[in-house]
Order: sequence, then C-alpha cells, then structure tokens
Amino acid sequence: MKLLVIGNGLVGNKILQKVIRRGIKGIGTWYNTKKEAEYKQYKLDKTNKQSVFEVMKTTRPDVVVDTGAMHNVDRCEREPEESHRINVDGTENVAKACNKYGSDMLFISTDYIFDGKTDKKYTENDNPNPTSIYAKHKLEAEKIVLESVDDAIVVRPSVIYGWDVVKDNFVTWAYKELKKGHSINIVDDQYNNPTLADDLADMIISLIENKCRGVFHTAGSECLNRYEFTLEIAEVFGLDKSLVNPIKTEDLNQLAERPKKCCMDVDKITKVLRRKPLSPYEGLTIMRNQLEWKDQIVRYGGKIEKLFFILLLTNFQKFHPEEIITSMDSNIRKLRGHEK
Ligand SMILES: NC(=O)c1ccc[n+]([C@@H]2O[C@H](COP(=O)([O-])OP(=O)(O)OC[C@H]3O[C@@H](n4cnc5c(N)ncnc54)[C@H](OP(=O)(O)O)[C@@H]3O)[C@@H](O)[C@H]2O)c1
Repeated sequence: MKLLVIGNGLVGNKILQKVIRRGIKGIGTWYNTKKEAEYKQYKLDKTNKQSVFEVMKTTRPDVVVDTGAMHNVDRCEREPEESHRINVDGTENVAKACNKYGSDMLFISTDYIFDGKTDKKYTENDNPNPTSIYAKHKLEAEKIVLESVDDAIVVRPSVIYGWDVVKDNFVTWAYKELKKGHSINIVDDQYNNPTLADDLADMIISLIENKCRGVFHTAGSECLNRYEFTLEIAEVFGLDKSLVNPIKTEDLNQLAERPKKCCMDVDKITKVLRRKPLSPYEGLTIMRNQLEWKDQIVRYGGKIEKLFFILLLTNFQKFHPEEIITSMDSNIRKLRGHEK
C-alpha cells in the first residue's frame, strides 16, 4: 500500500512516522514548513489544483490522508474567504484528484461541527449544526469528500495534543506555562474529548487497513472540560495545580463561538480498534514517557548511540526508541484489559 499524507503538521507527521515503521510506503507533503523526515516529501498547496494533481500524478497513492487545514478558529472567523479557500476549495481539489487517479481518501474534520447544546454524547448519526465559520467550512468539506469520492473516510477528532517540533498545541502550551511557574486561566464550561495525536494516527491507520468507509468519531475516550483537562496535565507532569484558575467562556471574548458540551460517542471506532481510544490520563502519560526518553537520550547520548549501533549490527534495523514508548502504550491497554 502507498499512502500520501497532505500536511506535515502534528497529525500528518505522526501518521507518516507510524506507517514507515510498519513497513508501509508513506509520502509526505509540506506547505510553509519542511520538517526533517525519513520519508519523501513534495511541496504541495491544496488550494492550487495543478499542484495537487501533479503530486498525485507523480506519486499515484492508494490512499490520500488530507490533514491540511486552516484551523485557527478565530482566524477563520476573521478571514472567512481564506478559510473557504483552504478548508473547502482545497479539500475539493484533493477529492477531485483522488477521483481522477483512483485513490481512496481520508479527510480530517472536527467535533466542532456540532453545536454543543446537549448533554448527550454525539454519535455519527447525530445532525451537525456548526456555530463558527471554521466548523461550517469543515462540514461543507466533509460533504464534498463523502459525495465525490467512492471510498472515503471522514474522521472527527477533538482538541488534538502531542509533542510537535514546530508548533505548540493546548497541552504543550499549558505544560510550558506551568513549568515556568506562570498562572493560567482556563475555561471550565467547554467540554471535549482531548485526543492524543499518536492515538489518532493509530485510529486512522486502523481505519485504512480495515478498509472502513464513512464517518467515525476518532476522539479520546473521556469527555471533560478544559479546566479539568489542565489539572490532569499538571497532575501527570508533576506541576503546580494551584496555578490553574477556572474561568468562563464569557470572560475570554473569543471571536468564534465554541460548542460548550461537545462530548463525542466513540463506540463505533472502539469496535474497529477493538479497544477504547486513550483517555486524557493515558495520553498524557505517554507524552510524559516520550519526554523522559528524550531526556535520557540527551543525558546518555554517547552510550545510547553505541547501543543503537550494536542493535543495527545485529539486524535490528527497525528498532526505534518510540517503539518502546508504544509498548508502554500497549502496557496501559493490557492493564485496563483492552489488549487485542
Ligand atoms: N488541532 C486540533 O485541536 C484539531 C481538532 C480537531 C480537528 N483538527 C483537524 O485535524 C487536522 C490536522 O490538525 P493538526 O493538529 O495536525 O494541525 P497542524 O499541525 O496545524 O497541521 C496542519 C497542516 O496543514 C498544512 N496546510 C495549511 N494550509 C495548507 C495548504 N493550503 N496546502 C497544504 N497544506 C496546508 C500546514 O502546513 P504549514 O504548517 O506549513 O502551514 C500544516 O502542516 C486539520 O484538518 C484540523 O482541522 C484539529
């Protein structure tokens, strides 16, 4: 199988790292920022139809995963035309190219397509009602993909977090602020299912490998408010919880309206994975383990290089420190009895 991943941000990069390690041929694209990577990368702007078609013609992928987006929700509200150009027109270009070259397509949407005005968990059968420009455009793009590509998958994650060398996300920002001893004000009336990017990448790969079709809620297994999530970040990383102050959405004056009770039902993806997606505690614990590994590598760099060299000589070419972390992830699953 050959996989083309559009966008090398947090999620795009995690997917490619994982598929390469599983021996699947993965190809990446970059837009503004090229990351150092062990896979081949093409420059691609999804708003430029010619650029999309040229890369597709050259690479001929079996599956295209489209992670490319403008997802700063307030910026989309301020610049609706630019949001439409990237999030809708750009996605349509990718869908058309998939049609022409016979590729399957997986598109990443968002939980924000729901209005968050219910206490129930949203299933894939519930009616969307987006409250912001960003969410309206993502929903428009979902429809284009599902209607125009025969073999399409749409996934809806929520508040994606994980280590990224280029950009901060909610968790890395909160971690850095708390570590510096800064107090932070966090809303306690916006509920979501925070999703570890590494786990989202696993869910996406499973959906592709199992040849699934349609819409899937690929979010973390627990719904909690942003203040509770931040307390969990402080707990897992051993930081000072008293620096986290609860505030209300009204205090923030955010330009775009956010859904307040946006809890996702993840039963459908749980059946595909044969395990629940990771909870915030499990996801944050994996991040902490990844950080500890990086610290160890810096501290014992020379010795670890020697160990890698010996492993290489003994034909362990596919050995990678993150595999050990992944096996910690499988330990968590074993502990809670969800191991396949
Ligand atoms: N982050 C969240 O909390 C969240 C929640 C729900 C859903 N999502 C969705 O999940 C997907 C992946 O998010 P992420 O966290 O990985 O975001 P990310 O790190 O910002 O990655 C987005 C990628 O899209 C690329 N891109 C932007 N405009 C493009 C264009 N015109 N053509 C091609 N590529 C373009 C960016 O390139 P440059 O960096 O070079 O500009 C970046 O590599 C997005 O579709 C987003 O809407 C995100």
